[in-house]
Amino acid sequence: MTDPQLVLTERVQQALAAAFGPEYSNADPLIRPSQFADYQANVAMSLSKRLRRAPREVAQEIADQLTGQADGVGPFPGTVEVSGPGFLNVTLSDDWIADQASQMLADPRGGVAPSTPPQTVVIDYSAPNAAKEMHVGHLRTTIVGDALARVHEHLGNKVIRQNHLGDWGTPFGMLIEHLLDIGEDAAVAQLEAGEGNAYYQAARVKFDTDPEFNRRARARVVTLQAEEPETMRLWHIFMNATVRYFNKVYTQLEVTLTDDDIAGESMYNPMLAQVCDELQERGIAVLSDGALCIFPPGYTGREGQPLPFMIRKSDGGYGYATTDMATIRYRVEDLKADRILYVIGATQSLHMSMLFDSARLAGWLPEHVRAEHIQIGSVLGADGKMFKTRSGESVKLLDLLEEAEIRAAAVIKDSDYPEEERAGIAHAVGMGAVKYADLAVSHDSEYVFDFDRMLALTGNTGPYLQYAQARIRSIFRKGGLSPAETTGPVVLGHPAERALALQLLGFGAAVAEVAENSAPHKLASYLFETSSAFTTFFENCPVLKGDVDPAVRASRLALCTLTLRVLETGLSLLGVPVPERM
Ligand code: ARG
Repeated sequence: MTDPQLVLTERVQQALAAAFGPEYSNADPLIRPSQFADYQANVAMSLSKRLRRAPREVAQEIADQLTGQADGVGPFPGTVEVSGPGFLNVTLSDDWIADQASQMLADPRGGVAPSTPPQTVVIDYSAPNAAKEMHVGHLRTTIVGDALARVHEHLGNKVIRQNHLGDWGTPFGMLIEHLLDIGEDAAVAQLEAGEGNAYYQAARVKFDTDPEFNRRARARVVTLQAEEPETMRLWHIFMNATVRYFNKVYTQLEVTLTDDDIAGESMYNPMLAQVCDELQERGIAVLSDGALCIFPPGYTGREGQPLPFMIRKSDGGYGYATTDMATIRYRVEDLKADRILYVIGATQSLHMSMLFDSARLAGWLPEHVRAEHIQIGSVLGADGKMFKTRSGESVKLLDLLEEAEIRAAAVIKDSDYPEEERAGIAHAVGMGAVKYADLAVSHDSEYVFDFDRMLALTGNTGPYLQYAQARIRSIFRKGGLSPAETTGPVVLGHPAERALALQLLGFGAAVAEVAENSAPHKLASYLFETSSAFTTFFENCPVLKGDVDPAVRASRLALCTLTLRVLETGLSLLGVPVPERM
């Protein structure tokens, strides 16, 4: 374990147990980075009430315990001071920091400890609707979900991706009939090109105005529900073409979703009758005006009436809620999930919370399984409204991503690299910019989609961090050296070396926090701070200059290597491509 915050947490907890009894060994020591020392522990203040003693006195006792620590754990790796009303200011020793950094260099996992025990984490993300255009909101659930999947995998968890495509339901009656009208080839070409919206609208107009088409579409819904072979063949043609378009977007974005991860609404169709019957038999769901509903406690409408979670409409049809009850059961019972993340728009929060409560009522979501709605905030245009094109239509995703790449090429146009490499860099920078902008803000807040800001080479942006890591690579290239051959050890002299080393040691905790709190933006800020610490270090501490002492040079190269590894691994975990040169 190299992370100072974790080491100190454990140390203070041991001190608490020794001073006040074993019942205190799990108290949160409230360790935070501090302006006045490396870290500050605020636990004395929170404990003083419980202990009925003055906070400073409590703090002093903890400090004495810490400085006296030796048995088993070794001497405390720094100094402790009581200050103010009862803060504990901790300054770590240079030797300890240097030693931990040297160990991190030798650690093949780069300071990221695996989850123990590993968990099975089901992540539901992306989930565009086949009957409609994949829009910018799906871009965000895709990017955030993919980052979470990568992080959990890196921690050694078993990740099961579930792309819950909207690929079933009444609209498919008219979509299939429209396919027959325009011909399979024309339909496939249009869908593969991402013209799903136009396709849908054409079908919709006929559905609303042409009684004969309307009748055919309704009849088609019936044969679809019955999974009649010819209807299923047509449905597959429609879906395969649509998925080919989704895959173009995924490839362009470099997200890890594959066809094996598709588990759309259609997959649950055969389970829905059983879901309803069982819930009705057990009295979890009851008939209300002919509809089958669950009434989870605590949800009321405007007039105080209990809110239904409707799993079967009065006409016998199933809906989004029915399918989602089936997703939980499948993910718990068949996929053996320990944790389920639903990465879905924040606007669906009522649905999700009623779903989880209903599933708990049904006993399908046992206490030990964590189910969480990772709420995704809206993406806004410059006008502060939902992101749209100038003509008011929703933006075609692939076009948007291609535009990012073209703009990125303009940003990096000065480089004299070969044409092919430049195209690769433009792709990496364009996608990195779009993805990082999504990940750098908390997933539940809204943000404005703004190419200029996301492509800026300064500030907390993807291109800035990509550039920061490329610059470190160029240091090695200039010196004719390889990061893989750096052996250190790290020794600390200049304050900027110390600050950088301390920052680097926090990597494991930053990654663990993303997994625990589903907060990729915390890793993004951490990487940004790391690159700032590196800049200060590099301005103050020459690495390759001729007169640098060999031991100092070896240590500084080690710090360069560690920074490179942290930035490279961290960006990859966010799904941001890492170009060799920029
Ligand atoms: N297709 C839905 C939408 O576009 C998202 C589905 C999310 N997953 C789920 N299990 N409900 O809004």
